[in-house]
Amino acid sequence: MSLKLDYSNVMDVNLGTEHGLSKAEIESLLDKGKQVQQELRNKAEQEILGFYKLPFQEKVFDEILTFANAAKKRFDYYVHLGIGGSALGPIAIHTSLRDSYYNMSESPKMFFPDNVDPDWIHDLLKHIDVSKTLFHVVSKSGATAETAASLLYFMKYLKASLGDNFYKNLIFTTDPVEGLLNIIAREYPIKCFRIPPNVGGRFSALTPVGLIPAALAGVDIKALVHGAAEMTKICDNDNLLQNPAFIFAAVHYLYMKRGKNISVMMSYSNKLRDLADWYRQLWAESLGKRFDVNGNVVEVGQTPVKALGATDQHSQVQLYVEGPNDKVITFLEVEKFEHNEPLHNHFPQIKEFDYFEGKTLGQLLNYEKQATELALTNNQRPNLTIKFSEVSPENIGAFFFLLEAATAFAGELLEINAFDQPGVEQGKIATYALMGRKGYEKKRKEILEQLEAKQKFIV
Ligand code: PA5
Repeated sequence: MSLKLDYSNVMDVNLGTEHGLSKAEIESLLDKGKQVQQELRNKAEQEILGFYKLPFQEKVFDEILTFANAAKKRFDYYVHLGIGGSALGPIAIHTSLRDSYYNMSESPKMFFPDNVDPDWIHDLLKHIDVSKTLFHVVSKSGATAETAASLLYFMKYLKASLGDNFYKNLIFTTDPVEGLLNIIAREYPIKCFRIPPNVGGRFSALTPVGLIPAALAGVDIKALVHGAAEMTKICDNDNLLQNPAFIFAAVHYLYMKRGKNISVMMSYSNKLRDLADWYRQLWAESLGKRFDVNGNVVEVGQTPVKALGATDQHSQVQLYVEGPNDKVITFLEVEKFEHNEPLHNHFPQIKEFDYFEGKTLGQLLNYEKQATELALTNNQRPNLTIKFSEVSPENIGAFFFLLEAATAFAGELLEINAFDQPGVEQGKIATYALMGRKGYEKKRKEILEQLEAKQKFIV
């Protein structure tokens, strides 16, 4: 495993004093950082924060592999029903570690419909044979409206195809005890996998949530968790200046204090682009908070934005280089691409193409990244790079853990609770009320009155 955080381009010596951070500023956080480190360790030891222990659940990994080996023989299709933390990790693992056109040649074909757009879901039905499809329903709470609705939607087709045996094509991943999925699983012999109660949805990529689809698609899940396990040691380093989780958190914390409230993650690799999508949820839901732990209104957080290089050099980079200096940009860079053939100038009459001779697409992509980095740095725009030696399961696992640990660190520095999501819950409750769910009648009345009283400005 080799994953490195290069933060040279946030330091004042490279970025200039106005927007750069001094060594002294980072060092001023060391005392607090040490306390945070100890608090996080205590919370991990006391099993309050479960994600620290996820890379070491050997029994769970073996159970998943046994299940996946048997399921691969039975199913030609896999449909993952979950949303938010129950979908983004699995998607990122799949797209980073499996063939970019996987479904065109591999089996089981994998689908991750993480939305309830009826047309989108309907289109999926045209491409699967329900009788040969494993539906993996993932919901920590077991109550999320989108996931429940998707299950009900497909149930019609499962029953039509399999009758009373519909449950044979279903598995659930949910809380060990709580939630509606467990009530269903008590009635039908549906295989259940568990999300530990002390692991929040957005920290659950390395639980059965992400590992089941990974194992089914042929990802080496032991290598994935091994990379994460190695990163746990690196992020436990007491020398915080050598600890990438602390550095990532400290840099972003200091910039938040300076009003840079946008965190761009720009991947110079299509394979890694969905990691940025996963990070978007992790950083937004964990750190975007109104109250601090003492109940003071703080309204903190950074808006995460995902971008893709080189594609977005022709879309976003103008803004990043010359627009408001309110962003911290994290590049994802791959040092060694798996396939990287040299180019040849097939049109020798075009001398302007000669500079491509012998160069590879990977070289072009990485030079483009370097060029963007230079342009940003020369315009005093803070930027960091997470360097992947290669796109491997070990490095992807390490990336998940690094960013999770950095998020936990940043939450403690900001003195907010990084592990709840009251804003998301507000939306969930309003949805239940609007959909007429039992128990939400009062809320429904309130909302309808509010909508009735609203003054409309529509053109
Ligand atoms: O991180 C979180 O907790 C959320 O994004 C959840 O993952 C998301 O709301 C889905 O919740 P659940 O897994 O309970 O269906």
